[in-house]
Amino acid sequence: MSTVVAVGAQWGDEGKGKIVDWLGPRADLVARFQGGNNAGHTLVVEGETTILHVVPSGILHDGSLNLIGPGVVVDPGILLEEVRKLEERGILKDPSRLRVSGRAHVILPWHRALDAARESKAGKGRIGTTGRGIGPAYEDKVARRGIRVADLRQPEALREKLERIAEQKNFELTSLHGAEAVDVGELFEACVAWGRALEPYIDHTGRILDRSLRAGKNVLFEGAQGTFLDIDHGTYPFVTSSNCVAGAVCTGSGIGPTKIDRVIGITKAYTTRVGEGPFPTELTDELGEELRRAGAEFGATTGRPRRCGWLDAVLLREAVTVNGLTDLAINKLDILSGFDELQICTAYEIDGKVTEDFPMTLAEAERAKPVYETLPGWREDVRGMTRIEELPDAARRYIERIESLTETPAALLSVGPGREETIIVRELFD
Ligand code: GDP
Ligand code: IMO
Ligand code: MG
Repeated sequence: MSTVVAVGAQWGDEGKGKIVDWLGPRADLVARFQGGNNAGHTLVVEGETTILHVVPSGILHDGSLNLIGPGVVVDPGILLEEVRKLEERGILKDPSRLRVSGRAHVILPWHRALDAARESKAGKGRIGTTGRGIGPAYEDKVARRGIRVADLRQPEALREKLERIAEQKNFELTSLHGAEAVDVGELFEACVAWGRALEPYIDHTGRILDRSLRAGKNVLFEGAQGTFLDIDHGTYPFVTSSNCVAGAVCTGSGIGPTKIDRVIGITKAYTTRVGEGPFPTELTDELGEELRRAGAEFGATTGRPRRCGWLDAVLLREAVTVNGLTDLAINKLDILSGFDELQICTAYEIDGKVTEDFPMTLAEAERAKPVYETLPGWREDVRGMTRIEELPDAARRYIERIESLTETPAALLSVGPGREETIIVRELFD
């Protein structure tokens, strides 16, 4: 038995989907444990691109079981549409390959409406959410008035619950935001239909995990978002509404911390961020444009241009700490080909003081100026390289510098979006 957790070490979109898909054949189970369809995980296999928002990234491998754990928030319409598209391609013929926790909370239309209304009203204070209703759905979960996936199969109790919640939701939507109220009757009908359609997938995923671990299976946990979007450890309030760090695996899937063997932090060879919030190494000049162009840095969920900048080792060191990273996956090395010089941020200068630690407050993070170290770039195209020895010397030095700054070894390197464009340095599963 061996368990590996894969989490984003930056602000999301590090290439988690690609790495999870690549690791897929080594895992018997792949499980999502937090977030919802704010995630957009891109898998490129033999030239065909699949973007997954809720379904775990192990799904393209016939042999794998894919779990959506209780810590995830599920938009039933989106999940069913994703399932339909996979079925159409002949991928999800057997529904038993996808299990959805009955305890996962449901994202309802009023969550999306509230997300949109609040953001449009917030002006400069907006977070730049994905508009998928994630925050409002997690709010209801914590306020103990949420609807869970299993509730969709209990129509009588469900109607009563929906009517009770609707009063409050529609009051906020209409009176506070001047938005349209949600029709509870229609919503109830939709919920019943979703419950029926989801029936073949609803299960006790915690029990499946426990049994699998006892049977000596390999399990891969797939994080969504990233360390600095974590509700506690990220750049609050410019974060998402769930814990995205490795610790969330336990609460979001139902296993204890003693069951986790390795935690791999996934990072780009540079840094990106979508949405508002501090980003010390952001490049707002031509260089940033070049990174965006070369890396095709546009969101997989919303299509928004991603903000781009140099690699930030201060950020990565903090990610090592809060996730207990044992390994790194360094992605998109191919995008750095052709730069004469590369910069790595090794410290911040905040109010004239140099620090190697990520600051505690948002205000300090906003004032942080990067202290850079310059490394030589490389000209060679690294795509197609399959062994670390093939990489140009400068690329290897760049990787080694990241390893020494983070005191964490790289287990995987990625040199292109395709599944095969991956260099393995060390095995993660036993
Ligand atoms: P995720 O949310 O962490 O799964 O990442 P996204 O899928 O949102 O964004 C990562 C993007 O980079 C996707 O378009 C991937 O296909 C692409 N990608 C991943 N690894 C590499 C790589 O090594 N090189 C290149 N050029 N693209 C990559
Ligand atoms: P993956 O899994 C990048 C960002 C949003 C916004 C903030 C809050 O593909 O890496 P939310 O809709 O969650 O309330 O938005 O978090 N965000 C992401 N950024 N990748 C993601 O997921 C993200 N999910 C949310 O842009 O800044
Ligand atoms: Mg993404």
